[in-house]
Amino acid sequence: MAFPAHTLRVGVLTSGGDAPGMNAIIAGACEQAERLGGHAHGINGGFAGLADVRAEPIGAVEARAHLHESGTWLQTSRWPALRTSEGRDACRAALEALAIDALVVIGGNGSAMGAAALSDDLPVAFVPATIDRDVVGTDVTVGMDSAVGYAVDTIDRLRITGRSLPGRAFLVQTLGAPNGFLADAVASAAGIDHVLVPEREHDLDEVARALRELAVNGSAIAVMSEAIGDAVRIAEELARRAGIRVHPTILGHAQRAATPSAQDRTLGQAAGRAAVDALAQGRSTFIALSAAGAVRSAPLVAGREPATARITDDTKERST
Ligand code: F6P
Repeated sequence: MAFPAHTLRVGVLTSGGDAPGMNAIIAGACEQAERLGGHAHGINGGFAGLADVRAEPIGAVEARAHLHESGTWLQTSRWPALRTSEGRDACRAALEALAIDALVVIGGNGSAMGAAALSDDLPVAFVPATIDRDVVGTDVTVGMDSAVGYAVDTIDRLRITGRSLPGRAFLVQTLGAPNGFLADAVASAAGIDHVLVPEREHDLDEVARALRELAVNGSAIAVMSEAIGDAVRIAEELARRAGIRVHPTILGHAQRAATPSAQDRTLGQAAGRAAVDALAQGRSTFIALSAAGAVRSAPLVAGREPATARITDDTKERST
């Protein structure tokens, strides 16, 4: 189905956990809809909000005013009903009531599934945005770079206090369950050798020994994914084995609200524009992204499984 660009009425929604740069995607989509002579309608509160028919027109200028903010100004939701035919029917009915021609869905794996499910009824563009980076078919997801930057900044500060008062260690817990992509990326960027992720075996005695040695000059830091378990308990266990204090630093949801990095803003806007370009041609699309800034339109397929962290020789070495 192709429709003339001047009738384009594009719904834009964010779904699942918020991620820095979602607002950049919204801005790019709104800008491109206007450029093509159409209108963007912001759907408030993700798929749950769509089912409740909560939407209003948004202009590119208004959308761009939120570019620098983390989170999503359209708000989001986790809505299990999306997995049911009743939930999807409610979304379809709302799209019809709102006279939406095409839809941009911004989010992670669950949102991709919802996007694909609705693409039989109208053109749908999915743009991957999650700090977890666990979406198959894209090298990066909007949001991860900012979340990694936030964690690295915290680790830099821990190094300062660690070196000022040597003799103890820190265990930094990242978000990112159920996988270790985020923790791995944080450890790589921060130059941390010891990272505990669910995809690899780890030897706590070995980590404890290394931390004890590193604590002498005050740079004893390990990183763990929240998927591994309770940071307080693991820090206690490491402390017992190492014979030094090990302070847990839980980044928690603050990491998700990191200030959007330049990469996430740039890539996000480009992805939003590419999403609307495909929709204007009447095509559903999965927008695949690379850290180098490439934005590619790929087929939107249903039933993609969440990615699991790749184990490379490099990461194997780091997990010793
Ligand atoms: O959106 C992904 C994520 O931030 C994960 O990193 C984290 O495990 C999860 O969401 C937390 O979910 P919630 O905000 O529902 O507690």
